[in-house]
Amino acid sequence: MAIDPAKGTAVHVRSVNKSFGDGAARLHVLKDVHLEAYTGEIMMLVGPSGCGKTTLLSAIAGTLRIDSGEIDVFGNELQQMRNSALTRFRAANIGFIFQQFNLIPTLSCAENVSVPLLIRGIPASTAKKRAREALDSVGMGDRWNERPGKLSGGQQQRIAIARALVHEPPLVICDEPTAALDAANGEIVLDLFRQVARSANRAVIIVTHDSRIFSYADRIARMDDGRIVEVHHVIPGEAPHFEHELPH
Ligand SMILES: Nc1ncnc2c1ncn2[C@@H]1O[C@H](COP(=O)(O)OP(=O)(O)OP(=O)(O)O)[C@@H](O)[C@H]1O
Ligand SMILES: [Mg+2]
Repeated sequence: MAIDPAKGTAVHVRSVNKSFGDGAARLHVLKDVHLEAYTGEIMMLVGPSGCGKTTLLSAIAGTLRIDSGEIDVFGNELQQMRNSALTRFRAANIGFIFQQFNLIPTLSCAENVSVPLLIRGIPASTAKKRAREALDSVGMGDRWNERPGKLSGGQQQRIAIARALVHEPPLVICDEPTAALDAANGEIVLDLFRQVARSANRAVIIVTHDSRIFSYADRIARMDDGRIVEVHHVIPGEAPHFEHELPH
């Protein structure tokens, strides 16, 4: 199935390499990675533990510098940006849900969710109102004044999702967004991501091991040992078929 030409390219990853460590301990984690994500779609990235998924997401989100190659996000080449410009670009354009939720323990849920708005100069009263709306959308409206440490893993995950969506970034990147969620909350969250992907000029990239949510994907890219080895177009109503078994 060809990509709809009306869709724009949100992310273009070209020949990306990334290693960690030096000398004999050097680990080549991303090996000449090529990948595209389009506006109007949910793209899922799957693959075995340790194959480089979080590393690739971090590079696309601009939180990790690559060794070589290019990562273009909405026409902006991340490697060309200085750290300060990259930080501003990220704050305005990318909502990132980390594998470890990275909530700030000393702030309430509403304050955590307000952070992306406050960074963008939105007045505190407006930020608080929007934060509480975002918490409502993930079913956490009644816990707005609590500290994250008092919440379960699934509840913390939903706070992190509200924080990633509250400023309506054009690119939403999520590392295992449903890992701690039950089926009902997983559906609520995926419906939110679908709304993002269906609004104009926005895109969603999700790393997941959760086969329950594959049907929400427009495309699924399979990664193995630092490379993208297969990209599958999901046909609505059909179970995704891969040439190789997916990891569970
Ligand atoms: N900051 C780092 N320093 C050194 N090695 C790292 C670093 N980050 C990741 N690695 C290594 O890179 C490899 C890929 O890690 P990554 O976190 O990208 O895997 P993953 O596909 O997200 O796995 P999982 O499904 O378990 O989350 C691993 O071998 C890991 O040990
Ligand atoms: Mg990971």
